[in-house]
Order: sequence, then structure tokens, then C-alpha cells
Amino acid sequence: MNQRAVVTGGNRGLGLGVVDRLGQRGFRVVLASRDLAEGEREAERARARGRDVIAAQLDVTSAESIRAFSELVGPEPIDALVSNAGIALDGFDEEVVEKTLAVNYFGATAIVRALEDRLGVGSRVVMVSSAMGALDGFDRRVRARFDEPASYAEIEAALGEFREHVRQGRETAEGWPRSAYRISKLALNAWTRLHAEEMRPRDVHVNAVCPGWVRTRMGGAGASRSVREGAEGIVWAAMLPRGGPTAGFFRDGRPVPW
Ligand SMILES: NC(=O)c1ccc[n+]([C@@H]2O[C@H](COP(=O)([O-])OP(=O)(O)OC[C@H]3O[C@@H](n4cnc5c(N)ncnc54)[C@H](OP(=O)(O)O)[C@@H]3O)[C@@H](O)[C@H]2O)c1
Repeated sequence: MNQRAVVTGGNRGLGLGVVDRLGQRGFRVVLASRDLAEGEREAERARARGRDVIAAQLDVTSAESIRAFSELVGPEPIDALVSNAGIALDGFDEEVVEKTLAVNYFGATAIVRALEDRLGVGSRVVMVSSAMGALDGFDRRVRARFDEPASYAEIEAALGEFREHVRQGRETAEGWPRSAYRISKLALNAWTRLHAEEMRPRDVHVNAVCPGWVRTRMGGAGASRSVREGAEGIVWAAMLPRGGPTAGFFRDGRPVPW
């Protein structure tokens, strides 16, 4: 039986690129899409190219959608889980912060949690992140909060402080960047490190990948890399052999600093 993959945000951009390349390499792929009709359309196109792809609805910010998705995916093992769905909104205010964290941190991690019981020895989890969340780009006070969190609760408490400082208009004074996106990826990276340790005894590989600056709706037409180039590093992490790296941050298959 071919290996099975799940890719969130699979209807366009990098997610669609990953669906296509995993399909090409013989995976049976569940293409998760917020808009089911869009997902169905892309799955149909993929099947026309000989890939084994089915679409399923998933909004990572909705507990109900996650529950239904998890049920639809069924009890069979998942060999590669790519948590790719993400947003980068314009502007900076409380609402942008809430929406961004809801998708890029809480949503991206909730779907992994929901499918975790189907990950087994040798399964790979890929958290699609960004160098914009790398620790050394931040003020030391921010770094100190996310550097070595002892628990998920600690990461979430730090995000609570971020929200509170934004609400009070004190974010700059407290050392935060005025970018919800960067903080969401910083927190996602911290979560990935903790989660990789949690999953180590089960021999599940958990890594974060930066795809570089890619020409998608998010990256814009002026970005330096094609979807194919950006997707390749994600596919690399989704296909790691047993005994391959875990708890790492990679770009193009090479480690980059957290
Ligand atoms: N492009 C870059 O230069 C770049 C650089 C570094 C990292 N990344 C990361 O790469 C990942 C993919 O980005 P992209 O460039 O491919 O962006 P994109 O073209 O804007 O695609 C984003 C995908 O995420 C989905 N999505 C957004 N909110 C969702 C939600 N609540 N539930 C489920 N799916 C949701 C979108 O679905 P809809 O079609 O329904 O909106 C879409 O499929 C993101 O995590 C991003 O942060 C991108």
C-alpha cells in the first residue's frame, strides 16, 4: 500500500505544490482545503495527471471542521502530515493579531494534535514556517520568552502577553515587532521543538521548514522562488527516511538556525 499524506491549505500556493509533488512520488494524498469546491477542483486536476488525491474540507480555526476532517481521514496511519495553511494579513492591530495567531499558531498546531493518533513509527510531521520567525531577528526580551519554553502553556502565555501589550499599545516599548506574522511563526517554531521531543519516543519526525520567499498569493509576484522550488524543501521533510532528523528547522534540506 502506498504511503498516505495529509496537506493543509492544499488548494493553492505551496500546499498545492506539495500535493502535486507527493502525488508524483506515489503518495495517496488528502488535500485539505477550506473551500471544498476549490479542493475538489484541484484534486480532480491532480487525478487527471495520474495522482491519487482526494479533497476534504478543513478550516484549521474551526474545532467542528477539524473534528469532521479527522473523522473523514479515518483511522489508517498517516505517513506525512504537512501543516501548511497560513495567512499573512496587511496591517497591524488587535484584530490582525487574533486572526493571524488563530491560523498560523493555534490552527497549525490543532490539526497536528487532532491527527496525532494516526502518526506512527517513521511518520513525518512538517510545520511550514518562515525565517521571519527565527529567534535572532527579535529583541532579546522576545527571544527569552520563546527560546526554551518548558511547556506549550509557556508559549501560549507569551502569546497572551503579546496580545495584551498590543491591546495596551505598548508592543514596541516591550520589544515586540509590529508583525503578527513573525510572532506567529516564532511561536510555531517553539511549539515544533517541544512537539518533536514529545514525539521522539514514538519515532515520529517533527521538523519545521522555511520555503524561502515564494511566488504565491502570500509571497506575491515579485518573490524570488517558484512554487516548485519552495515546495521541494517541504517535500524533502515529508519524505525523510526513518532515523532521519527530527526537531530541526530546514530550508532546502539544510539546517537553518531556529
Ligand atoms: N510564500 C512565501 O513566500 C512564504 C514564505 C515563508 C513561509 N510561507 C508559509 O507557507 C505556507 C503556505 O503559504 P503560501 O505562500 O502557499 O500562501 P497562500 O498561497 O496564501 O496559501 C495559503 C493557504 O492556506 C490556506 N488557509 C488560510 N487560512 C486557512 C484556514 N483557516 N484553514 C485552512 N486553510 C487556510 C489558504 O486557503 P484559502 O484558499 O481558502 O484561503 C491557502 O490554501 C504558509 O504557512 C506561509 O506562512 C510562505
